[in-house]
Amino acid sequence: MPRIPGRRLLHSPGPTPVPDEVLHAMLRQPTDLGDPAVAQLIDDCERGLQRLLQTTTADVFLYAANGHGGWEAVIANLVGPGTVVLIPGTGHFSDSWAEQVRAFGGEALRTPWREGLPIDPAEVEALLRADRAQRISAVFTVHTDTASSVTSDVPAIARAIQAAGHPALHVVDVVASLGAAPFAMDALGIDVVMGASQKGLMGQPGLAFVAANERALAAAQRNPAPRFYWDWARRRGAMPYQKFCGTAPLAHLAGLRAAIGLIEAEGLDAVWARHQRLAGAVQAAVSAWGQGFALFAREAAARSVSVTAIQTPPGVDPEAIRRVAREQFQVAVAGGLGPLAGRVFRIGHLGDQNEAQILGCLAGVEAAMLQLGLAFTSGLPAAQQALVDAVRAVNATPA
Ligand SMILES: Cc1ncc(COP(=O)(O)O)c(C=O)c1O
Repeated sequence: MPRIPGRRLLHSPGPTPVPDEVLHAMLRQPTDLGDPAVAQLIDDCERGLQRLLQTTTADVFLYAANGHGGWEAVIANLVGPGTVVLIPGTGHFSDSWAEQVRAFGGEALRTPWREGLPIDPAEVEALLRADRAQRISAVFTVHTDTASSVTSDVPAIARAIQAAGHPALHVVDVVASLGAAPFAMDALGIDVVMGASQKGLMGQPGLAFVAANERALAAAQRNPAPRFYWDWARRRGAMPYQKFCGTAPLAHLAGLRAAIGLIEAEGLDAVWARHQRLAGAVQAAVSAWGQGFALFAREAAARSVSVTAIQTPPGVDPEAIRRVAREQFQVAVAGGLGPLAGRVFRIGHLGDQNEAQILGCLAGVEAAMLQLGLAFTSGLPAAQQALVDAVRAVNATPA
């Protein structure tokens, strides 16, 4: 493949660009597993993730795996044949998690997916109230469904579970939201959280994690389903070799530690505000395009700060826009998944992103739309104005 001069702008919602500091941290010779530096590295990652998740009580388990591995870790520990879990419909990613639950012999109850809308907490509450026999052992919530770019209201869902007076565990997928949107595990009473390295955590793909509190660990103890690699009890030992059920993925851990350091140096509040600002710019641009281009997420409050799914007008192939943007203008955006294949394309704006990258991405996408002869009004002025307004709003806020 010929070298691309400069950088191709990566605006998939994962993998996301990896900061130089993270790349450099990964570029080290391995050490022997008995070296105290290995235990320290693992401990730094576990403590760091606890701080990002805002938990002081949950145990963190790290896996050499992708997000599906994180899902499987949750399922292997909490689901066995006949176990019932409620997975509210959010589109592609909750569908996929439900499929994985069924593959383990579990039963996945669903609330219907409401296109363009977040999970309805009232539906969750109603299903739990109706479950008088308390067969539902857990609610699996996808915080941000990366395919639809809709973020559900996890605090409202947590309140719904509480209001129903149901003992189900609450398990949350933060794959697309951690390091981008506010999340506080202990304060929300979440029992299990799972995530992966390649999105807001700005890492190379290949590292997944689960954080589980005492209630979840006790439920796992009661689950007789066979498991080994994913087993939380087996991984609770003090030795690095036990913690990883084998050799630890040292380079990935070094990258994660560096990424957590970057997030904390910027400050979690500042990171969340930056994501909000950049998402606002993309939403402003898309809203200006008109001519049948539209934000897929219908409620402003539920629009993800990580990714924006853009519906194309009838007869306009989102894959063509994607192809020209990537091949000709060096901007990589994502396509539609599952039920949204061929209906949307998606701009990722999470992780190591800044204003210049977002404006460059929007300009490249618009260039592709121009090249394809599509009708639209440029959204660049609206995006620029949104960024200017966001800075003015911060400056106007009393310290
Ligand atoms: C919300 C969410 N959950 C789970 C996954 C699965 O992760 P992976 O592709 O790393 O297996 C993804 C992937 O994009 C995701 O966006």
